[in-house]
Amino acid sequence: MKRMSNPRAQAKDKYEVVSELAKRRGFFWPSYEIYGGVSGFITFGPLGSLLKRRIEDKFRRFFIHRLGLYEIETSVITPAKVFEASGHVEAFKEPMVECLRCKRRFRADHLLQEFAGLSEAEAGRLSLEELRREIEAHGVRCPECDGSLGEHKLFTTMFTTTIGPYADAIGYGRPEAAQGIFTEFKRLYELARERLPFGVVQIGHALRNEISPRQGPIRLREFTIIDLEFFFDPEEDRPPLEDVRGEVLRLIPAEVRLKGSDEPLEVEVCEALKRGYIKVGWLAYFMALAKRFLVELGVPPERQRFIEKLEWERAHYSKQGFDQEIYLERWGWIEVSGHNYRTDYDLGQHMKYSNIDMRVFKEYEGRTFVEERTIIKPVLSKIRQDFKEEAQNVVKLLSGIDPNELEASLKRRGFYPLGPYGILPEHVEVARRKVEERGRRFIPHVVEPSFGSDRLTYVTLEYAYGTKGGRALLDLPRDVAPIQIGVYPLVSKNGLPEKAKEVHRMLLNEGLTVDYDESGSIGRRYARADEIGVPLGVTIDYRTLEDDTVTIRDRNTWRQVRSEIKTLPELLRAYFQYKANFDDLGKPV
Ligand code: GLY
Repeated sequence: MKRMSNPRAQAKDKYEVVSELAKRRGFFWPSYEIYGGVSGFITFGPLGSLLKRRIEDKFRRFFIHRLGLYEIETSVITPAKVFEASGHVEAFKEPMVECLRCKRRFRADHLLQEFAGLSEAEAGRLSLEELRREIEAHGVRCPECDGSLGEHKLFTTMFTTTIGPYADAIGYGRPEAAQGIFTEFKRLYELARERLPFGVVQIGHALRNEISPRQGPIRLREFTIIDLEFFFDPEEDRPPLEDVRGEVLRLIPAEVRLKGSDEPLEVEVCEALKRGYIKVGWLAYFMALAKRFLVELGVPPERQRFIEKLEWERAHYSKQGFDQEIYLERWGWIEVSGHNYRTDYDLGQHMKYSNIDMRVFKEYEGRTFVEERTIIKPVLSKIRQDFKEEAQNVVKLLSGIDPNELEASLKRRGFYPLGPYGILPEHVEVARRKVEERGRRFIPHVVEPSFGSDRLTYVTLEYAYGTKGGRALLDLPRDVAPIQIGVYPLVSKNGLPEKAKEVHRMLLNEGLTVDYDESGSIGRRYARADEIGVPLGVTIDYRTLEDDTVTIRDRNTWRQVRSEIKTLPELLRAYFQYKANFDDLGKPV
């Protein structure tokens, strides 16, 4: 069977070259290889762990510190109730098909994309029955053994476990870190001194039991998610757009996609808001920052785009959503971050399921309004009679609901669903009263930029990869390079190693990540360092022993400058904070 648009048959592509380098030099490799490997899991080696951590720290500087956000850490294993409330138990399912011969199972929509040329949007909207028909019509067979494909089913992609030794205490491995933030909202709001807007980030592992992940670090069953939940008053959607004004986004709005085009429009971010392509200011603001963040990681603007999700592609909680996509040679456009307007959906759901009031109160500034309001008075005798020992809980819940909704539901359906209880007209009196309003009570709205840290790491590596003089060179941004400096004695004799070790120790004490290397020729050592993206090399030669100066070598240009050892700490700190350039580090050699 022929794969569609698959360049793998040709010479090694960038993915293969980068993966080979990653394995050889210790960035990442497939996990559990001694037992044959399990797809969907990768191991980050010493350099990969450092690179990934530096990218996450860059995220912290770029978003968390700059915007004054909070960062928290919650558990991966989560009680079932949380994901019942959030809607994931109902919605987190993928279509699966099994090979009748080898019994392997596949994502039905992915098979159609890979072997029948359907787009993600086309394949993603098909029902199970439609998927079956399309697979049959296109003659798609098992990609592993060419057997025929059988029954189609929906598969829940959350990992399930039990909490403690109780079979009925179901827990899920969280598929997103966001719910850990929503469930702690009340405490976090107090910590934010009960003021909106504010944002909370969680960087941590998430689990998704993908049906058949076959894209290495791009599609993992266990991965690091960076979820940023930004809470705001929908009546005051006023981000500091002056910070991002002029930033041009390559947008593919839903209306363009629906006309069958995937040609991005180049629109300045404020203009995108004005024209209604992006419906929420904070969403636009974070998209512009996300673009800049990826540029700083080495992805040029023309290799980025934001594609709006169509209604049937959006997550169940999203009212408008864009994927930030990056072009990769092998995989085409892949998502590195999702930007969703989650409205008050999640907090509203947790309020319903937990009976905890998630609303905030905002005073009108120096004003009060007199308003006629619908109020409900519980008819206690009837509630006690019908709900017995639950009566108190029913009354408590009634105090937290919108009386207009209750009235409308009683009129329309003859009852009101109050959590597990059905409220009938005889349980409440509905009346109107003039009330003085000092403020508003509402559930905050949320926009969510969410990044995949593993994908960011892979993308950064692939965009850094290049060659110079026929050798591999990783042009990693200096603030994420895992090793910042290599220290080398020119030769390993005549007192040079001793002096080099002194310099190495001094730089380590400055908090820099420094590698000491004295094995092989100096050229080989430079080549080894270039291949893992070490931005600077400090070389100790015979002149060092005379005047305490060293050469500093630039990874990308191979140019060298000479500096005094005592000035290195200050110069290098400035360099790694982008406050100095290479030429500021010393005199040309
Ligand atoms: N929280 C982001 C996601 O689930 O993709």
